[in-house]
Amino acid sequence: DTPSAVRRRLLAWYDAHGRTLPWRAAPGAARTDPYRVWLSEVMLQQTTVPHATPYFQAFTARWPTVVDLADAQDSDLMAAWAGLGYYARARNLLACARAVARDHDGVFPDTEAGLLALPGVGAYTAAAVAAIAFGRAANVVDGNVERVMARLHAVQTPLPAARPELKRLAAAYVTDDRPGDWPQALMDLGATVCRPKSPLCPSCPIRIDCAAYAEGDPGRYPLKSSK
Ligand code: ADE
Repeated sequence: DTPSAVRRRLLAWYDAHGRTLPWRAAPGAARTDPYRVWLSEVMLQQTTVPHATPYFQAFTARWPTVVDLADAQDSDLMAAWAGLGYYARARNLLACARAVARDHDGVFPDTEAGLLALPGVGAYTAAAVAAIAFGRAANVVDGNVERVMARLHAVQTPLPAARPELKRLAAAYVTDDRPGDWPQALMDLGATVCRPKSPLCPSCPIRIDCAAYAEGDPGRYPLKSSK
């Protein structure tokens, strides 16, 4: 089917089955706080939603705004981060919060390019915050999105070489309609249905579109180059 039919089915599934997560706005509520979106996306780059959630709750209780976080002691932040791993990311987190506080009056830039210019903010985080917090039609591609695209299109190129192709495939689904919900629908599908091992295809709203499902063994995608 066309990208727009695939979008329609997956977004309807997301409305019914998407996860309720503390950094997401309640359905119908105003768009969620960029600080909370940014913080959650940085945390989620190295860990799962269940592992990150209590850290997210603790951080936002202790540092409710980016300016509060910017004022934190390095040692307090590093201690609060303990258990999340990748400590360079915690340092980047603080550097970014301080840049937003100092250079942007505590207000996150609202474009992908503006976000990308912040210290420690890479392509993924800039796209995710632009889409989820600011409603920009950014192409947000993480490992979940790569896996869904690899299966949907039965991509024959192995990872990591397939990355540019997967990103290009994902871009075909990005529109100005629900730009923040779309990547989150893909991520929820990837985490709960289109899982790395034993995907739950009978529960998948887009299996009729899925080339890997049609082949009969979607779990073998994405292909990986044998090292
Ligand atoms: N993984 C990373 N970011 C996520 C998000 N916003 N929703 C669900 N899973 C995610």
